[in-house]
Amino acid sequence: MKILQIGGTGFLGSHIVKKLIERNHDLTIITRNPDNEMPFDKSKVKFIKGDILQLDELEISANFDVLVYTAMVPFKPSRISNKKFKELEVITKQYFQNTIELARKLSCPLILTSGASFETKGDEVADENWPITRKGMAALGMCYDELISEIKTHNSIPIIEMLPAQIYGNGGMFNKMISMAKNGKIVLLGGGKNFLPRIHVSDCADAYVLAIEKLPFGQRFIICDDENVRVKDFMLYLAKIFNTKKVVAIPKFVLRLVIGKHIFHTLTMNTKVSNELIKKELGWKPKYPTYREGLKTLKE
Ligand SMILES: NC(=O)c1ccc[n+]([C@@H]2O[C@H](COP(=O)([O-])OP(=O)(O)OC[C@H]3O[C@@H](n4cnc5c(N)ncnc54)[C@H](OP(=O)(O)O)[C@@H]3O)[C@@H](O)[C@H]2O)c1
Repeated sequence: MKILQIGGTGFLGSHIVKKLIERNHDLTIITRNPDNEMPFDKSKVKFIKGDILQLDELEISANFDVLVYTAMVPFKPSRISNKKFKELEVITKQYFQNTIELARKLSCPLILTSGASFETKGDEVADENWPITRKGMAALGMCYDELISEIKTHNSIPIIEMLPAQIYGNGGMFNKMISMAKNGKIVLLGGGKNFLPRIHVSDCADAYVLAIEKLPFGQRFIICDDENVRVKDFMLYLAKIFNTKKVVAIPKFVLRLVIGKHIFHTLTMNTKVSNELIKKELGWKPKYPTYREGLKTLKE
């Protein structure tokens, strides 16, 4: 297939790229820095140097079977002021709007990425019919729901929505957790009693490959492994894998002061989700059904 990807150089994106190369797809990546080193064979893909914020400057002449969006607005995972949050919200909107506009211009189906941000209580388990909870960092994508509903109402472009759980693996922001564990100290933020679903980056990439090859238009998929896990259990297992001696618990009230309300809400939200739909519709199955199998790969 002829695939155009925005975000193919990122943590999740590069895993998808590796798998698409293995499957002999014809892949073009839009990146701001095509000369950078990348964790895949650069000779096997084409590059378009460009920025999704500068849509008018993107020169694309070829036709594509699908446009895949796995980009993310860059931000530091530290305290975010309300002013900074508002700025990020405006930029996030531009990323989504411009990506949708690009798909329209190219008359190309779109696979769009958001996140599995659902707030559940007790035994509740969210599925794809639940409304996305726009709380914490997920509130940056407030515009997303409106944009999607507009596309669906007017049937303007064929679309598939991917909603990954927290992605872990070697790379991206998760590298920070790994180096902390390797350096002998793990921080447990806010007690960690809340559930936060996870997905190994390789399994998440497999889900995208299936979505690209099967193109089930109109679907929205939660991508998570088979076991909803508490933050605490996940972090303690990470400590066990790396033989980390020190586990420091930061109480909720201190955490909120240090990291601010936006990241606080993201880290402390309670979420249980189901992966039934993606298994049924795409035949997807995680190679790492729980964090226990998945975290072990970090030492390989
Ligand atoms: N990581 C998670 O736990 C997680 C969980 C749920 C959902 N998600 C979603 O999954 C997607 C991928 O996340 P990730 O962690 O893999 O992100 P990431 O590693 O930060 O990747 C960022 C990617 O976005 C591209 N990008 C950023 N700004 C761009 C711009 N202005 N124009 C063109 N490309 C731009 C970068 O490309 P260049 O730098 O090469 O230009 C890079 O490839 C995101 O949509 C994210 O919201 C992630």
